[in-house]
Amino acid sequence: MADSTKPDSTEPDSTEPESTDPPSAEPEGPAKGSRAGRLTRRGLLVGIGAAGGAGAMYAAMGALGLAPTEQDKAFTAPRQGDFTLSGRASAKVVILGAGVAGLTAAYELGKAGYDCTLLEARRQAGGRNLTLRGGDRLTELNGPAQDVTFGPGVYFNAGPGRIAQWMVALDYCRELGVPIETFVNNNASAYVHTNGHTVRARTARADMYGYVAELLAKATDLGALDRVLTKDDGERLLEFLRRFGDLGPKLDYEGSARRGFTTYPAVGAGTPLAAPGTLHQVLAAGTGRAITNDFGHEQATPMFQPVGGMDAIVAKLRQAVGPDRIRTGAKVTGITSRDDGVEVSYAGGTVKADYCVATLPPHLLARIPHNLGAQVTAALRTPVPVSAGKIGLEYGRRWWELEDRVYGGVTETDLDLTHIWYPSHDYHAERGLLVGYYNTDAAAELYAALTPEDRRRRALTQGKKIHGEKYRQNVLSSASIAWERQEHIQGAWMRWPSFDSSFTLLQRPAGRVYFAGDWLTHLIAWQAGAMESARDAVTKLHQRVLQSP
Ligand code: PHE
Repeated sequence: MADSTKPDSTEPDSTEPESTDPPSAEPEGPAKGSRAGRLTRRGLLVGIGAAGGAGAMYAAMGALGLAPTEQDKAFTAPRQGDFTLSGRASAKVVILGAGVAGLTAAYELGKAGYDCTLLEARRQAGGRNLTLRGGDRLTELNGPAQDVTFGPGVYFNAGPGRIAQWMVALDYCRELGVPIETFVNNNASAYVHTNGHTVRARTARADMYGYVAELLAKATDLGALDRVLTKDDGERLLEFLRRFGDLGPKLDYEGSARRGFTTYPAVGAGTPLAAPGTLHQVLAAGTGRAITNDFGHEQATPMFQPVGGMDAIVAKLRQAVGPDRIRTGAKVTGITSRDDGVEVSYAGGTVKADYCVATLPPHLLARIPHNLGAQVTAALRTPVPVSAGKIGLEYGRRWWELEDRVYGGVTETDLDLTHIWYPSHDYHAERGLLVGYYNTDAAAELYAALTPEDRRRRALTQGKKIHGEKYRQNVLSSASIAWERQEHIQGAWMRWPSFDSSFTLLQRPAGRVYFAGDWLTHLIAWQAGAMESARDAVTKLHQRVLQSP
């Protein structure tokens, strides 16, 4: 359906009969129907396209006010066939960084036969899409290396771990044949730990929803909202609030089976939990943030993960791009954009190409000597890196399933570990790995400053506050990451003080250099951001090549 926030077309063509073209997600996109006996915009554009190629067509569409804003356009991958009518040829492109943005750019350009070379400073492709397994070695800036000793089949997504349904990352999983499975982002049986108390998420929710509903229901019933509610609306609202809070006949919240049980119903009725605390106690528990975490569009359930580890996406992209196109250990040391091409020097050589797509973290890119101008440097320095960290704790026993009956999901806390993630896969296996902390900002910096051994000790001490002594038993191994200490990355993601002119400046090429990365989108800290940005750069680059004399 058309997005109702976008203005409707007021042009005559908007009354055209339904197009036979495949449905376009973009209501103002080029694919409009034709009208018998008249030269329609579509007919005209198709003609221009046939004569002058896609570039000419887009230019004409722009002149007619038909081109959707650059950012809303549905993506069309470059194709070999795009060149047939224009008589132009694809180009050589050097891509800086073989993370998700760089790999996506190479993959999409490759569809039209572009000759891509990727320069990757790290030892392997993938960037922050990093999955650790037994046998891996994780090095760290100014810190000891960790040898990962997880058992067979056990993995730790040290970077991205979950994908929302609407994100383009899922389209790449489909296209590349990466099998996915549910990521349990919200589990009523997981815990909420705030102000020193631990309750199940279902209990915290039942109590907050219950009391909120009670207050609002009573205010409605007493007529306190009569100025904003008609009588009918008041009754409808009451009807909803009774359900929302599981209220009693007098609109009191008196607890609810929703809170859970000490013994769940079976042949017998079960033993419900003790009655809830008072309104004051429930408010003082401060569970608000923890129980609303999945309310937004980014975290809403169900979410998904690739089967076997997030790096399946990297593996497939790398394979599709051609591993021999990726030079690892190739730290970029200089970028020169000229009228007729770009030259990129790196530890080990120089690459000359027609265009460059730079996907490095902006704060690191800013330090590389280049001739793109002081404004570009200043813009690259504008977003600031955010710290985040995680630890993978491998246990010889899935006590969270066996004893806590927690199958996947996230425990939310006000401790510095912030989150615990239980695995959403391999249920009932013998071993299992949970994410013992996932934190950002100050909490992440605190852990980053510790040795891996101390991080683990701290994680176990903190986690014990929620799960008790068993949290420290049967730990087989662990591995922790502090993204600010990852070489050639140095941050978990970027934060723009505001999405200002620096942000838009870098969405345009500087000479022959295009920029891409999640940091150039409104999907920061998501692979989807890196992919969308890569697609945007690819689209712009390809149009330019098609239009070039
Ligand atoms: N994508 C990351 C995550 O899901 C970071 C993030 C968290 C981004 C919350 C936006 C919102 O953990």
